[in-house]
Amino acid sequence: MKKYLVIGNPIEHSLSPIVHNYWMKKYHLIDCVYERKKIDEKELSNIVKKIRDNEIVGMNITVPFKKLIIPFLDELNSFAKETQSVNTVQKVNNKIVGYNTDSIGFGKTINEIYPQNSSKTNTNNLILNGKNIFILGAGGVSSSIISALERKGGNIIISNRTKKKTDELKKLFPKIEILDWGKKPKIYDIVINTTSVGLKKDEKINIEFNDCNKDKNKLFYDLIYNPRETSFLKEARLRGNKTMNGQTMFLYQAAYAFNIWTNIEPKVDNELIKLLD
Ligand code: ATR
Repeated sequence: MKKYLVIGNPIEHSLSPIVHNYWMKKYHLIDCVYERKKIDEKELSNIVKKIRDNEIVGMNITVPFKKLIIPFLDELNSFAKETQSVNTVQKVNNKIVGYNTDSIGFGKTINEIYPQNSSKTNTNNLILNGKNIFILGAGGVSSSIISALERKGGNIIISNRTKKKTDELKKLFPKIEILDWGKKPKIYDIVINTTSVGLKKDEKINIEFNDCNKDKNKLFYDLIYNPRETSFLKEARLRGNKTMNGQTMFLYQAAYAFNIWTNIEPKVDNELIKLLD
């Protein structure tokens, strides 16, 4: 059996096994299995050794290990280097390589939201040129979001409850503007919630966006997809703004990871989306 794994802590909520096992079955990879495993930080070294020893063929990494895994790897792909965040690992020519598919997965989602400016073959187009994007939160996934948006020409304004984390991100992305938590930029086209606020029902971010009532051009995007509609998205929908949750980004990052491991370009079909409901 070829073993694939997602590691994290907590991990019970991870839907990655459903997605990858679905594709493994669909594409007749009958000797493959994808599992999830909750680990402690001190187990990271041992788990990477299992990839070296071919006991594990491919691995996904989720919160809080996307950065912590880096010292145990031999090489990073360009997106992983830029974001200092790794969510996919495999052995290539005896080297353990870390990849970041969150950034490219989010980039593909953005292309679909703004298809009029986008081309299917070019993911590095400047479709967000001149757009101001307000990011809430500077946790583990924020560097992937920023890298995808900057590649498309967006201006980033970011705010996090703990200021130290935005200062760290500024070292990776010097062009971003930092705003104190609770404030809102004067001009913005897109607001993205990358915080964990909203995972629990009725949890709210205490920032009012009433200045954009009935503005259909303003997009409110929440990385959370379970629940499907957080308070952040519900309020935006009731104001008349465009809204979207993080399900497609989740599926696309998984698709890129699957492609790295198997060379197959898996389809995100309706049957798969139904499985996640
Ligand atoms: P980590 O910070 O360990 O990478 P994460 O789940 O990736 O964890 O990120 C959680 C994000 O949600 C952080 O931006 C966090 O803000 P802090 O850096 O201040 O902790 C944010 N967050 C969580 N609970 C929050 C709350 N009640 N209010 C505002 N932001 C919150």
